[in-house]
Amino acid sequence: MSKPKVLLTRRIPSSAQAALDAACAVDRNDGGQLSPEQLKTRLADKEGVVCLLTDMFTADVMDAAPQLKVIANVAVGYNNIDVAAATDRGIVVTNTPEVLTEATADLAWALIMDITRRVSEGDRLIRRGGWKGWALDFMLGNELNGKMLGIIGYGRIGQAVAARAVPFGLRVIHSDVQAVPGSGAIPVDRLLATSDIVSIHCPLTPETRHMINQAALARMKRSAYLINTSRGPVVDEAALAWALKNGIISGAALDVYEEEPMVHPDLLALENVVLAPHLGSATTETRTAMADLAVRNAIAVLTGQSALTPVS
Ligand code: DGY
Repeated sequence: MSKPKVLLTRRIPSSAQAALDAACAVDRNDGGQLSPEQLKTRLADKEGVVCLLTDMFTADVMDAAPQLKVIANVAVGYNNIDVAAATDRGIVVTNTPEVLTEATADLAWALIMDITRRVSEGDRLIRRGGWKGWALDFMLGNELNGKMLGIIGYGRIGQAVAARAVPFGLRVIHSDVQAVPGSGAIPVDRLLATSDIVSIHCPLTPETRHMINQAALARMKRSAYLINTSRGPVVDEAALAWALKNGIISGAALDVYEEEPMVHPDLLALENVVLAPHLGSATTETRTAMADLAVRNAIAVLTGQSALTPVS
């Protein structure tokens, strides 16, 4: 029997590549990002695709792939895929939950530590020759012990971030866009008003797009920090730049942006913001586990089994 044809939109770690090659006839893109037109051409004869969060799967793209059975996203977030359109066409969509929880929570903490203790700001200062020596009042940051951490989106990653707060002496409150009664979640507005650090861990949906806008930022304490490791468009970057410039909040640390890899130019000019290039899951161990899981999902569907981690 011939192997199912699969498009691999980017290179993946060798263990995952080997597993995919063993089960499927793989058409691997070794170049850069495929345009929607290139994606459509390469998908015309494919039954499966293993893709990244930068590949956009619209209904139009899916219509160019009449044999497509599975879209295996190498990411936990899947806002790059029109899941409703896929479901209508009988295409299974899968993601990679759990395997990246700890790495992403670690990165959120790296950002919390960085912005509250001004590590990147100090690094920039030294590199431009601006450090004149130790002084008692030089580059003072803010202590974590005794402060309030507010987590928006209390799924696996939000909870892993909360678990790390205990040894630092932080108290934790949380909100969910769709709060389950009895879960302890509080309204987002209350969380924004009472937290010293707000860390975002919700998915990007129509409800969460620009959830952190000018009004939301104005509710935060002037001494507060905003951390975003979820998806860029949850935060209105222009509003954030306004808040940071005008002392509406104290600082922000971002791993994700509205138009990656573009960053709002006003943010680039500010000292009180840390900018990381979407590194949440970027450890060797985690990226390997993500690719392995995506490949296992694709193979499962293409061999008539249930997907391990379907999104719907
Ligand atoms: C994801 O998996 O959604 C992350 O953003 C990748 O780091």
